[in-house]
Amino acid sequence: MIPAVVEADGVRLRPFRPDDVDDLAAGCADPVTLRFNPVLPEPYTTADAHRWISEGAPAARLAGGAAYAIADVATDRLVGGIGLSQVVPARGQAEVGYWVAPRARRRGVATAATRALAAAAFRAGLDRLELLTHAENPASQRVALAAGFRREGVRRAVGRARDGRREDLIAWARLAGDPDGPAARPLPDLPDGRLTDGVVTLRRLAPEDTDPLYRLHTLPEVVAVRARPVPPTRAAIARRCAVAESDWLAGGSADFALLDAATGALAGGCALVYDEPATGQAMLGYSLLPEARGRGLTTRAVRLLAGWAFGTAGLARLWAGTAPQNAASQRVLERAGFRREGLMRGRLPAHHDSTRPDTILWARLATDQP
Ligand SMILES: CC(C)(COP(=O)(O)OP(=O)(O)OC[C@H]1O[C@@H](n2cnc3c(N)ncnc32)[C@H](O)[C@@H]1OP(=O)(O)O)[C@@H](O)C(=O)NCCC(=O)NCCS
Repeated sequence: MIPAVVEADGVRLRPFRPDDVDDLAAGCADPVTLRFNPVLPEPYTTADAHRWISEGAPAARLAGGAAYAIADVATDRLVGGIGLSQVVPARGQAEVGYWVAPRARRRGVATAATRALAAAAFRAGLDRLELLTHAENPASQRVALAAGFRREGVRRAVGRARDGRREDLIAWARLAGDPDGPAARPLPDLPDGRLTDGVVTLRRLAPEDTDPLYRLHTLPEVVAVRARPVPPTRAAIARRCAVAESDWLAGGSADFALLDAATGALAGGCALVYDEPATGQAMLGYSLLPEARGRGLTTRAVRLLAGWAFGTAGLARLWAGTAPQNAASQRVLERAGFRREGLMRGRLPAHHDSTRPDTILWARLATDQP
């Protein structure tokens, strides 16, 4: 049986008490908490908090799980909640869930609580802890990583949103034998969140980039160089921006907004798709809005990106493909130190009744002198 109180680094996991009611109601009424915990009643009232303290939390424990208040060690005041549910005794498995009050976020509370709960659960005999996060909830994914959970994949339609729609969730797990400490990430964060040479700035793509990115990706000349030359929907671009951080954390791709450093306006986009982690190789793609072209911004962006990829990220080889007739893109790659390696025949899917288009292959190695 997992203990009633678990002491952790800066926080204490303890049973809920009647005098937690106001802090509990305020924390659970927060819109972000409600969004990512769709089982909570909305609106969340003081009556709901009373019911959780007197009935819900004790019932979770009786069912073999746990429901703790996360309390500040100095004041013992509630700053969040964490628990174990969906216990499957035959598999020695349970699911971790947590929330932290807005006033206590970004101070390591959820990470410390999750690490401590995992250690206590493994000591009590559990073998496997699962955690499910929404793709648009990078804060929770970072907690999972920091607490040593590894990403296992996407559980399709396993969740139900507040409006009744079924939603995919990302599945994470930590095993009793997994090492302490954060789980490994294939792609690190950018230093201070950006790369800049004073003329262009690259930062991770974000939801606020949707409109300019949609304009960019529906330009005829940009559509023409897509793998399938069909314009994306606005919803697809919004989704790409919304899950960019999640994809980065998963190590699948690093999707950048390319900004004019002087104005901060989005001038284009570029992406690194980590297609062969086993060999340290990734693919590079980019496009620029018409008003920003002709000033060398893409070349600068590719140089910056390559510097980060070969430096902090530790990649060995970057490759890019251009259409045989795309002279502007070929010049960018040449100027950014890429070499032409050959022709990939029939590399892209055929459109209409045509044959599969060829692509020129360019690459730069970490060891090449740019
Ligand atoms: C998710 C949540 C519990 C995180 O709590 P927290 O105590 O702020 O988390 P931590 O301080 O331990 O931060 C852990 C990591 O997340 C990062 N982080 C925190 N808030 C973030 C945000 N809004 N966006 C991106 N990253 C964020 C931190 O920088 C830290 O990253 P690092 O390990 O790379 O340094 C909190 O945001 C919350 O309650 N959200 C609403 C409820 C919820 O989503 N519950 C989980 C459902 S699966």
